Amino acid sequence: MTQQRYTITTALPYANGPLHLGHVAGVYIPADIYVRYLRAKNEDVVFIGGTDEHGVPITIKAKNEGVTPQQVVDKYHKIIGDSLKQLGITLDVFSKTTSKQHYKTASDLFKKLEGEGAFTEQVTEQYYDEANNQFLADRYITGTCPHCANEKAYGDQCEKCGSTLNATDLINPKSALSGNKPVLKKTKHWFLPLDKYEPWLKQWILEEHKDWKTNVYGQCKSWLESGLQPRAITRDLDWGIPVPVEGGEGKVLYVWFDAPIGYISFTQELLANDTTRKWEDYWKKDGNSKLIHFIGKDNIVFHCIIFPSMLKLFGDYILPDNVPANEFLNLEGEKFSTSQNWAVWLHEFLADFPDKTDVLRYTLCSNMPETKDADFTWKDFQAKNNNELAANLGNFVNRAFVLTHKFFEGKIPAPSTLEEIDKNTLAQAKEFNAKISDSIDKYRFREALSELMKLSNLGNKYLADTEPWKIKDNAQRVGTILRIALEIAGKISVLGLPFLPETTTKMATWLGISNTQWSEADKDILLTDGFTIAPAQLLFSKIEDDVIAAQLEKLKASREQAQQAKTSAVPQKENVTFDEFSKMDIRVGTIIEAEKVAKTAKLLKLKIDTGIDQRTVVSGIAEHYKPEDIIGKQVTILVNLAPRNIKGIESQGMILMAENSKGELAFVSPVKEIDNGGGVR
Ligand code: MF3
Ligand code: ZN
Repeated sequence: MTQQRYTITTALPYANGPLHLGHVAGVYIPADIYVRYLRAKNEDVVFIGGTDEHGVPITIKAKNEGVTPQQVVDKYHKIIGDSLKQLGITLDVFSKTTSKQHYKTASDLFKKLEGEGAFTEQVTEQYYDEANNQFLADRYITGTCPHCANEKAYGDQCEKCGSTLNATDLINPKSALSGNKPVLKKTKHWFLPLDKYEPWLKQWILEEHKDWKTNVYGQCKSWLESGLQPRAITRDLDWGIPVPVEGGEGKVLYVWFDAPIGYISFTQELLANDTTRKWEDYWKKDGNSKLIHFIGKDNIVFHCIIFPSMLKLFGDYILPDNVPANEFLNLEGEKFSTSQNWAVWLHEFLADFPDKTDVLRYTLCSNMPETKDADFTWKDFQAKNNNELAANLGNFVNRAFVLTHKFFEGKIPAPSTLEEIDKNTLAQAKEFNAKISDSIDKYRFREALSELMKLSNLGNKYLADTEPWKIKDNAQRVGTILRIALEIAGKISVLGLPFLPETTTKMATWLGISNTQWSEADKDILLTDGFTIAPAQLLFSKIEDDVIAAQLEKLKASREQAQQAKTSAVPQKENVTFDEFSKMDIRVGTIIEAEKVAKTAKLLKLKIDTGIDQRTVVSGIAEHYKPEDIIGKQVTILVNLAPRNIKGIESQGMILMAENSKGELAFVSPVKEIDNGGGVR
């Protein structure tokens, strides 16, 4: 049998925003702990990550910001990648689903399966925006929720009552692009016949994977018991990987079809020029690799049901060995919310606390949402730093170092005769390797970290019980005690590496035992007699109250800002060149006639003296101005807008209006009188 390998993946976040602490606690911290542990045991691992760059959320973000989808994903790919690196997440590759290799791999796999007849094709009716000539993704349709009458429900979900919807369920559907009522139009899509895989999935998960975490197993069970349906794996969209087979024009692969394939394409990118390892070693059955997906709970079906069905279809690929999904992290008792800016953004945390990455890792791990939702609070962050890391671990290490310098000029003393308490302490310390390993093997990272802190407690208690600083005229006894304390610090530096990499790497260097293998941590002796340890330094500094208060302030202020921004400013549109702007002929004119357009509520028919002529313009301002009040007013008008027919009247230009957050309109007029025809630039 080939040597055991490990393929470890982290869910690919959408590149439409930065990461917040929820992503980090749910996915990256547990994955990185697991991988660092495997590497310390000398295991053969690839650790894969990247960004998910397709899908409607990206196109919506681009539209809101007036930029292209590619610009959106490039911006956030960089922010996300940089912040993960700074946090010490040791991914072997951090790529993106817009990479060339990924397009190739995803297209090839789709083509292969299509050629083998693995998919079914179905023609369905879907909403279409006639003004924009395009099919509408569910998120681009709003309307009234049939369950709770919320008028702002989306085509896939009502955010008010939480029900899942089909776009055709909405009452009064409206296109988010044009505001028009969409029409139903036929379209063909490719489907993955999950129903065919149901018996196999039931056997594989429900019978063979009783070892999966109960939250994961339970979700799979409920999906499988309610019966699987064929699932569309293509979409009518212009952002994504084009459907690479006949009839696929104008269509792309569904983002959830291409994204998990990213794990494979990124491994291919990583190992493209590697002379000793092949990507197949980590994905094909004969490579003997264990595939483990680290994800949040909202991704369970995709990683436990849909992607495994795809992997099985691909042929000789491995299936996930485990999917240790986490529940959600809340923030100060409320859900993280990007739209409300109720979030601690990772890159902002790192800018504010560049030397506290281990403290963040510690806080998020000791509070990881492993079995139920958990809560991040700034007070707790402070308490964990001050009372646990500084007062327990930091204090223990500091005392051992200070005393060694005081009594032995910093040279590690050799142990002599062991007393009962020494033997006991060493015996207990020895057990932590097995305990921590066992917890990590079971994906119980909170438990593993609390064991590590117990090892630190053991060290503190040992020093408190033996009180070496009070011993007079017995250097040998003092030396033995300090040696044992330093050995405990040494063990912490090895066993704590997955959790607190920065701190433990420092400790190991100070003690002269850098790069010690995991398996050595159950030896009684790791250190070398007579090695001069580094001077005593603080491992953790206290966090004061005002620092925490400032973070809480910032959090509240940014939510208020988000609420205000929603009601007023629309994001800036894409840049135009000066030439493009100059094409618009905008002039000052005077309204010389005004009347209501019959049978409409909003329209006025105006006659404008533009300095070059007198022309008719239809303007949607009847709810804001009475005809008799505006005769003689100076306004600005775009005169070279192509004429449009509005309610049977030819409108020759457009009056410029300013709009406030309540939707009220006002003329944009010169503040002093300007001759009609005066240009606006
Ligand atoms: N982008 C998805 C999300 O944030 C996760 C994709 S994971 C992968 O929910 F499997 F598709 F890669
Ligand atoms: Zn509703």
